[in-house]
Amino acid sequence: METHEINRRFTDHFVNAGHTKVPSASLILDDPTLLFVNAGMVQFKPYFLGEVPPPYPRATSIQKCVRTGDIDEVGKTTRHNTFFQMAGNFSFGDYFKAGAIEYAWNLVTGSQDAGGYGFDPDRIWPTVYHDDDEAFELWRKITGLPEERIQRRGGKDNYWDMGVPGPGGPCSEIFYDRGPEHGREGGPVADEDRYLELWNLVFMQDERGERSPKQGHKPIGELPSKNIDTGMGVERVAYLLQGVANVYETDLVRPVIARAEELSGRRYGADPTDDVRFRVIADHARSGVMIIGDGVTPSNEARGYVLRRLLRRIVRSARLLGVREPVLGSFAEVVRDAMAPSYPELVTDFERINAVVRAEEDAFLQTLSSGSRIFDTAVTAVKNQGGTQLAGDQAFQLHDTYGFPIDLTLEMAAEAGLSVDEDGFRRLMNEQRSRAKADAAARKTGHVDASLYRAVLDNHGNTVFLGYTELASEGRVVGLLRDGQSVAAASEGDAVEVMLDRTPFYAEAGGQQADTGYLRGDGFVVRVDDVQSPVAGLRVHRGEVTAGTVTLDAQVIAEIDPARRSGVSRAHTATHLVHAGVRNALGTSARQAGSLNAPGRLRFDFTSPSGAVSPAALGEIEDEVNTVLQQNREVEAYETSMDEARKLGALMFFGEKYGDRVRVVDMGEYSRELCGGTHVHRTGELGMVKVLSEGSIGSGVRRVEALVGLDAFRHMSKEHLLLTQLSDQLKARPEELPDRVAGLVERLRVVERDLEKQRAEAVLSSAGSLADAAEDVDGTALVAVEVPGGVGANDLRALTADVRGRLGARPGVVALFGTDSDRVTFVVATTEAARTRGLAAGKLIPTFAGSVGGRGGGKADLAQGGGTNPAGVPDAVAALRTAVRAH
Ligand code: SER
Repeated sequence: METHEINRRFTDHFVNAGHTKVPSASLILDDPTLLFVNAGMVQFKPYFLGEVPPPYPRATSIQKCVRTGDIDEVGKTTRHNTFFQMAGNFSFGDYFKAGAIEYAWNLVTGSQDAGGYGFDPDRIWPTVYHDDDEAFELWRKITGLPEERIQRRGGKDNYWDMGVPGPGGPCSEIFYDRGPEHGREGGPVADEDRYLELWNLVFMQDERGERSPKQGHKPIGELPSKNIDTGMGVERVAYLLQGVANVYETDLVRPVIARAEELSGRRYGADPTDDVRFRVIADHARSGVMIIGDGVTPSNEARGYVLRRLLRRIVRSARLLGVREPVLGSFAEVVRDAMAPSYPELVTDFERINAVVRAEEDAFLQTLSSGSRIFDTAVTAVKNQGGTQLAGDQAFQLHDTYGFPIDLTLEMAAEAGLSVDEDGFRRLMNEQRSRAKADAAARKTGHVDASLYRAVLDNHGNTVFLGYTELASEGRVVGLLRDGQSVAAASEGDAVEVMLDRTPFYAEAGGQQADTGYLRGDGFVVRVDDVQSPVAGLRVHRGEVTAGTVTLDAQVIAEIDPARRSGVSRAHTATHLVHAGVRNALGTSARQAGSLNAPGRLRFDFTSPSGAVSPAALGEIEDEVNTVLQQNREVEAYETSMDEARKLGALMFFGEKYGDRVRVVDMGEYSRELCGGTHVHRTGELGMVKVLSEGSIGSGVRRVEALVGLDAFRHMSKEHLLLTQLSDQLKARPEELPDRVAGLVERLRVVERDLEKQRAEAVLSSAGSLADAAEDVDGTALVAVEVPGGVGANDLRALTADVRGRLGARPGVVALFGTDSDRVTFVVATTEAARTRGLAAGKLIPTFAGSVGGRGGGKADLAQGGGTNPAGVPDAVAALRTAVRAH
């Protein structure tokens, strides 16, 4: 049964049972506790917690998920995918354990002719939470399974939560027995490889605190209602129903392996080590494309880093399969074709996805090639010293700095006939890991604070935001923190975090900077420097008490700095306009990747399908945006349903909002986006938008920076002044300046060249004075000098011979160093008398060559060489003097 069919049957089964079909949420939801959506329930979290009333009592979805915790297992087991689809059914206070068990059982064991999956009931093993007698009984009654086939397990296996404070509950899992050839008898408690988990039914009823009931801690409370959250692993069901050996060989993943076979000329199934590589490629290619599809670009942080890691692992694995050419674009095409029936946006967005993977691959191939150079140098050094092993720290450096995985290093070392100190490498890796762990532990303490915020949220609800219409308003202090601790009062000089029941202050979000201002109450003032929203719904004012004592429950007048706000709002409106302009000029696959709206200036990052934006296109964008300003369009903000917003064609990003109500900001047809930020009323208020620069910030992402309003005007007026000054100085009209400057630069170049030539000629005719200035070093005449100006090697040799001739019968050594900006050429000559003393030109060279970063050689009377460090000439001269003195 094809995967798409498995999904269709799942959806039909639950829609027929009265569930509302809900589309998959983006992999990136605005949930601070998660990098990626990792379960079907994530988009429903506010309903479970009772923060938002659920719009339907029951729902079903096929959710895209990413879990990268077990990334090292990928390809080695039968079942680890970094991207997978979780099919789920959800009840929000509607049916509970009995319903969930019955629905799941009917679908799993229902005959294929009747729309089920047709698994043999005799091979199904359910599990229940150890003291969940109710679930145990229900399994028996509903399925008729004998008692010994229903196993009880502890919290580690049969309690589910999100790993952070939030909803959770005991669960029942459904396992399928793959048969005795796959492991031990005894059910899932004995062997989780033979017994494969298909489906997890969570009886979502608790709210967990900082510590998880998985480890036996008590939940901190009950959820407002008893809910159901289930998740079935679509790929696992597919692998069983398709009769293949593992999840990587299922219909939506296997095609990537086929493409890798074509590119590498190797066969899947021929060699176990290669097979792991094939599977890693297939798994990661799919995750990578899906993640980029949802708007992430590779970077060195958070989600971008996970993506980068996935993509780079593909490139390396392909390399280990012997492929040197770029591969990512080709794999991305295969993933698109396999996944498009369920995710049509992969087709419409492909240009962008392709641009991102190609840019990342180019960058990585460059890294690899510099790594390869380091590797070659290390190998040569080991061999020169007669060694046979590459040191652990070298392998570690290759890994850490150049992204070389150890298996690549091992393989390349083997090709070069060397082994690698793997123990040493692993020791360094472990040290690094413990450092990272310590860092993570340190960061985690930040988590304790989140529970304080959450407590305020629980007691007082969301902070009401009045700032769309008000610049000042009354409010009451409902939460007060000092040094991360709740306090009842804080006094002058204290750094505080203040939470109000209502506020006009905008908390930093969506690229818009926070408001600043003051909270004034009876006898106290708090200066607000920043406002953040550490948990959704809550706004936290951060600043300092500048007078008196602020107390919990105090009334305040909260007033924002209106000038800063209007500067930021102008920038935000301008960002929307630049975004629209960019899409009009470059096509709709150009897509926002980030932004910053600060007073009077903005930064707008976007994925560009076609690389750099030409100055002409940039000019057009700027012109168009300023035309819209002059049209003085009305900027309207309104709330509507998500469906309606979609119909209106509003641009939306990364599933920013929970719930169905969204806020749309539009400027007529020109620009329409989902946005929670603040804006001006009419575009004319912006006055002017001036684009300052456009450039790459890596991985196919471009950045535009622009000034808005008076800041734009002042910038232009400053530039104009500069131009007038230049025009005065050069006595040319502004439009003549480019030619004039180009002419000047060219003349300067000619003059410099002539000057250099003359200098060299002067030097070459200076043999006499050089010989006269010879230094006496213990009876040997030494002439060791730098000859700047890029004198050629032939001239240098002629000059050296000339000087030596003038030293006559004396013992003499002549060493001339011809230099230019980044190179040194040197020639050493000895007189016969010097040679009788044992001074040989060829032997002298190694005594100083290192100082100029080079080497050379030759005979006893004349030798020469070169180097790359002209700054080292004085050191070289000193070294040579020492060498001569020793004779
Ligand atoms: N939330 C549960 C899981 O992820 C069931 O959907 O396994």
